[in-house]
Amino acid sequence: MFRRGLLALALGLVLAGPAALAAEPDMAAINAMDRAAFVEKFGGIFEKSPWVAESAWDKKPFATIDDMHAAMVNVVKYAPLPSQLRLLQNHPDLAGKEAAAGAMTASSVSEQASAGLNALSKAEMGRISELNAAYKQKFGFPFIIAVRMHTKEGIFFDFARRLQNDTQTEYANDLQNVYAITRLRLDKLLSGS
Ligand code: GUN
Repeated sequence: MFRRGLLALALGLVLAGPAALAAEPDMAAINAMDRAAFVEKFGGIFEKSPWVAESAWDKKPFATIDDMHAAMVNVVKYAPLPSQLRLLQNHPDLAGKEAAAGAMTASSVSEQASAGLNALSKAEMGRISELNAAYKQKFGFPFIIAVRMHTKEGIFFDFARRLQNDTQTEYANDLQNVYAITRLRLDKLLSGS
C-alpha cells in the first residue's frame, strides 16, 4: 500500500512536474478573511490601489486564485475611467526617476530587476528615458509591461512598437499588462517567494 502511494506520487511528479510539490493556496482561509484582513493581505497587488481588493472582497467565496483574480480584474474593468487612469498612472516608469530615488514598491523593484532594468548601460538609460517621455507625452499614462514575461531586448522592442499605436489601443494594452502583472504578483505572494 505504502509502495503504491509512493509510486503514485512519483508518477504524479513526472506527469505534473515539480509544480505539483507547491502548496495549493488555502482558499478556505482566504474566504474566511474579513474585509480588513483581505485588504491587508491583497491590497498591494494592484499598484497603490487597495480599492480593488476592497471591492473584490464582496465577491467571495472564491473557488480558486484564478477566480479571485478574475473578481479583481472585474472591479478594474467596471471602475470609472478616472480610477482606471489613476491605477495606470500609479505605475512607475521603467528605470525612471522613482527607481533612481528608491521610491518604488517592493514588487516593482523586483519586477524591473528581473529583466535587468536596474542595471542598464548609459546608452540604454538614455534610450529608455526617451521612450518613457515620448510614451507619457503621447498617451498621458506610463508604459506598462509584464516585465517578468520578457527579456530586456523584448521590452525595448515592444516599447518602440507600442509607441506607434493610438491612445485607445495603448490604454487597453496597459490594462491587459496590469492584469498579467497582478496575476504573477498573486502567485508570488502566495508562494511566499
Ligand atoms: N511592469 C511590471 N512592473 C512594472 C512597473 O513597476 N512599472 C511599469 N511601468 N511596468 C511594469
